[in-house]
Amino acid sequence: MLTNRRDFVKALTAGGLAASGLRSQTVSGQSPAHIEVLPGESIGTISPEIYGHFIEHLGGVIYDGVWVGENSKIPNEGGIRKAYIDAMKSIHAPIVRWPGGCFADSYDWRDGIGKPAERKLRTNFWGGTEPNAFGTQEFLRSCHLIGAKPYLASNVRSLPARDFYQWVEYCNSPAGSTEGAKQRAAQGHPEPYGVKWWGVGNESWGCGGNFTAEEYASQYRRFAAWVPEYGEKLSFVVSGPNDHEVDWTRRVLKALADRGQVNSAAGLSVHYYTWNLSAGATTNWDLGKRDAVKFNELEWYELMAQGSEMEPIIRDHWAVAAESDPHHHIKLVVDEWGAWYRPGTEVNPRFTICQMPTLRDALLSGLTLDIFHRHADKVAMANVAQTINALHSLMLASEDNFVLTPVYHVFKMYMAHMGAQSIRTEFSAPGITYDRNGKSASLWGLRGSASISGKDLTLTVVNPHPTRALETEIVVRGASIASGRGQVLTNTDIHAHNDFRNLDVVHPEPAGVTPSGGKLVQQFAPASVTALYLKLA
Ligand code: AHR
Repeated sequence: MLTNRRDFVKALTAGGLAASGLRSQTVSGQSPAHIEVLPGESIGTISPEIYGHFIEHLGGVIYDGVWVGENSKIPNEGGIRKAYIDAMKSIHAPIVRWPGGCFADSYDWRDGIGKPAERKLRTNFWGGTEPNAFGTQEFLRSCHLIGAKPYLASNVRSLPARDFYQWVEYCNSPAGSTEGAKQRAAQGHPEPYGVKWWGVGNESWGCGGNFTAEEYASQYRRFAAWVPEYGEKLSFVVSGPNDHEVDWTRRVLKALADRGQVNSAAGLSVHYYTWNLSAGATTNWDLGKRDAVKFNELEWYELMAQGSEMEPIIRDHWAVAAESDPHHHIKLVVDEWGAWYRPGTEVNPRFTICQMPTLRDALLSGLTLDIFHRHADKVAMANVAQTINALHSLMLASEDNFVLTPVYHVFKMYMAHMGAQSIRTEFSAPGITYDRNGKSASLWGLRGSASISGKDLTLTVVNPHPTRALETEIVVRGASIASGRGQVLTNTDIHAHNDFRNLDVVHPEPAGVTPSGGKLVQQFAPASVTALYLKLA
């Protein structure tokens, strides 16, 4: 806890120094803000999987969101909503996590295979009846249609390890070789799917079993040991911590290391939701949340400040992981992230934890993706929670209504970063001070990330000030900016959002880019996310 607070204070102090204007005056002499990109200082390749997704059997995510059924009048491909497929294709969605979430630890994959009439009705973890119409093959088909890899989360709380490796057998064993392969073929898919990514439980400290770290580690070993691989090296993800809880990370990884099992895992899951907008008034999960759309300026700033906590969270878990995994064989998999507001803005009353994303959530998306880029050496995958009809949605759908949210636009604007080299970039800008329930608080004035691929530089920038545009001088050390183009996502109303009647209130607009003398002076609009696509000479 102390470590995290210390990091937070450090971050605020950095904003405070920049607020003095000293650095920007020294460097540019003109613009109040300055960005220096350092192509010689590579952080690492930005794993495309950082742009990953998460869909769970919860509220309207699967039924109505993704799955409409083959006989639906809603355009679909074999029951999967066509608008969902098209939108995911258009952002090159690299990987999708399924079936949960908490749902995963109550799910028996056998209930969701076979002929539709044979599917079992079950009680859904989140309430109501689970029809199991959307099961393993429907999910894997949806991934295939999108062009995304699947990432399956297994049930550690309520099924034995045998069911896990038989699920692997069902998905991956060669045609005709096993009972699993025969079941798969009976549903029309004789060839193996080659599913590589497997989560071993979900939130095993909570809904995934209320395990202690040591108890979970022992379960993990039982599940992950000797799973048949069928020629495909499997990537196991250890059920990891919630936000700042480094104790879980330390103890789970130590328990794995003590049995020589660290190398069996590819990733450690980390979950962080931005939910407490009470400005320090409470830590109560229900009381700390606020409305998704009707928010004041304090709640705007608090979302940015709380969202920025992702950075110390990544740093702290990484540092603690090194105690048992000094060569960092295990990378971080942030497989749930996003804003979580109080109920009240659902597009359909049946949709549990569905909320309306606004421009504010676009900024949270931008600043979070930028943090992942800045830690490209540590973060192997991230999965936004959730893709459609829950929490930090990119899409909302109900019956034949469908809309892309501001979050979706950020994913699209940032696509050029996928697979590029993340490079160190220094931001210096006047910080922001705001009144936090009678005490002065500060927030950084401008942040972002840069990546390079050949001569193409992508620079993404978030300006969190609701009313202040920021003129910024941009220089690239050792290179000049020859030309470029840009896109900006903003609105004069910070509450702006897209809904079923107003599909396009928040959308990216072109941003003029006019380099001069190898540099660029760019105006960053208030409350904006900007992507600059620059050609270097
Ligand atoms: O995304 C909603 C829920 O949040 C997930 O099911 C669970 O893993 C987390 O607590």
